[in-house]
Amino acid sequence: MTTTNNPLSITPTLKAATDPIFTKPWNFLGAWFQNDDRTPFETAHGKILWDYCSQEPQLNDLFNESQACDSRLIASFLVDKCKGVFEGLNSLVDVGGGIGIVAKAIADVFPHLECTVFDLPHVVAGLQGSKNLKYVGGDMFKTFPTADAILLKAVLHDWKDEECVTILKRCKEAISSRDNVGGKVIIIEMVLREEDDQAFKSSETKLFIDMEMLVLVNGKERLEEEWNKLFLAAGFSHYKITPIVGLKSLIEVYP
Ligand SMILES: C[S@@+](CC[C@H](N)C(=O)[O-])C[C@H]1O[C@@H](n2cnc3c(N)ncnc32)[C@H](O)[C@@H]1O
Repeated sequence: MTTTNNPLSITPTLKAATDPIFTKPWNFLGAWFQNDDRTPFETAHGKILWDYCSQEPQLNDLFNESQACDSRLIASFLVDKCKGVFEGLNSLVDVGGGIGIVAKAIADVFPHLECTVFDLPHVVAGLQGSKNLKYVGGDMFKTFPTADAILLKAVLHDWKDEECVTILKRCKEAISSRDNVGGKVIIIEMVLREEDDQAFKSSETKLFIDMEMLVLVNGKERLEEEWNKLFLAAGFSHYKITPIVGLKSLIEVYP
């Protein structure tokens, strides 16, 4: 899994996780608790992660590739084991979709489905789409294209609850404005369970990822009850959770 020529290699993730730009902020947690910076990353580097990536092409590539390698693994399960999730959809926007690994895999398997990858302008700049895949740059806190379904993979764990509710409300508007009855938000994230923690199931991994989110972006991993609260606060009525692979689950959220 770690060799560079394996399509599911985790080398890019390891390179990012051990790069001093990503390890340095861990040493600034104490200072951050006592200042008003948005993240320990900002205390360490003087700017937040997304701004740093937009200014340093090498860091942008390192980060995007690290995300892409997780997305290759997830995409391979998604289009194989979770096909039903995309049936009946004509359009999908992958918000915060990075360099588009998941959307590309979906677009290939469902040629009638119009897929859009929406991410910050520096992430999607220069990327080539295909017949049913396009890239759009912008800020998800302002606006993003409407569609039958909005996909959010590893996006909400980057944000605090209030910011998640804002993003989810935008998603609800985006799927409702098409006047369709089957609209939904598809979320791919960890869903923590207290009973797993009591049994120490992957506890160290979950704790590490939760802390990594705090240190880099002031985000967090969430229990099912915490997800439920966010969905209700954003005006959704119900949801369905399906485990996909490892610690990741797919959550379909309905207006
Ligand atoms: C953790 S990455 C996940 C990327 C991709 N979904 C994946 O799983 O590979 C979060 C993504 O959110 C994007 N992002 C951050 N702030 C954003 C904003 N305001 N508008 C749009 N995208 C944003 C980042 O550029 C990044 O690509």
